[in-house]
Amino acid sequence: QDPRISKISSAIRVIPNFPKPGIMFQDITTLLLDTKAFRDSIDLFVERYRGKDISVVAGIEARGFIFGPPIALAIGAKFVPVRKPNKLPGDVISEEYSLEYGTDKIEMHVGAVQAGERSLIIDDLIATGGTLCAAIRLLERVGVHVVECACVIELPELKGRERLGDKPLFVLVSST
Ligand code: PRP
Ligand code: MG
Repeated sequence: QDPRISKISSAIRVIPNFPKPGIMFQDITTLLLDTKAFRDSIDLFVERYRGKDISVVAGIEARGFIFGPPIALAIGAKFVPVRKPNKLPGDVISEEYSLEYGTDKIEMHVGAVQAGERSLIIDDLIATGGTLCAAIRLLERVGVHVVECACVIELPELKGRERLGDKPLFVLVSST
């Protein structure tokens, strides 16, 4: 395992019973305070995706907006925000999904991507995988090839990886 991973892992704070009893909240704000570990987390993604002909980095609101843009800039791709409903001002396409706590919708501007483009989808965390699955459907509906999904943290017990099926998933840290 890459020696940078253990420090990234220990920079993530776990807060029990937030936002409700039984949830172990994975708080990446403490990773952002550790300048070395934060940079290393971005570098690990950039090292993996540079040279892979990816023209779109799609980041999922809210915490995918933190990791997506620096990766997009470093690999020479555009950044496309995938947002919670009724936030984007232009024409959007939407996908519904079920979350660890509740159900929601995500949206993307229709003109942001073109059919045939190659995309990475980035978020901070995969739990049940519902959010990433919806993002994959959103991009594939408009003819974009989703090369891979990437997250800082995976909660393997929730089996989100299985829900993604054949779609590759890359994570820095697995939290048990
Ligand atoms: C969290 C997390 C992922 C998603 C993972 O976001 O940041 O986006 O849940 O859950 P899933 O794999 O079960 O779909 P959340 O919607 O809570 O909000 P935020 O990122 O806007 O804070
Ligand atoms: Mg989120």
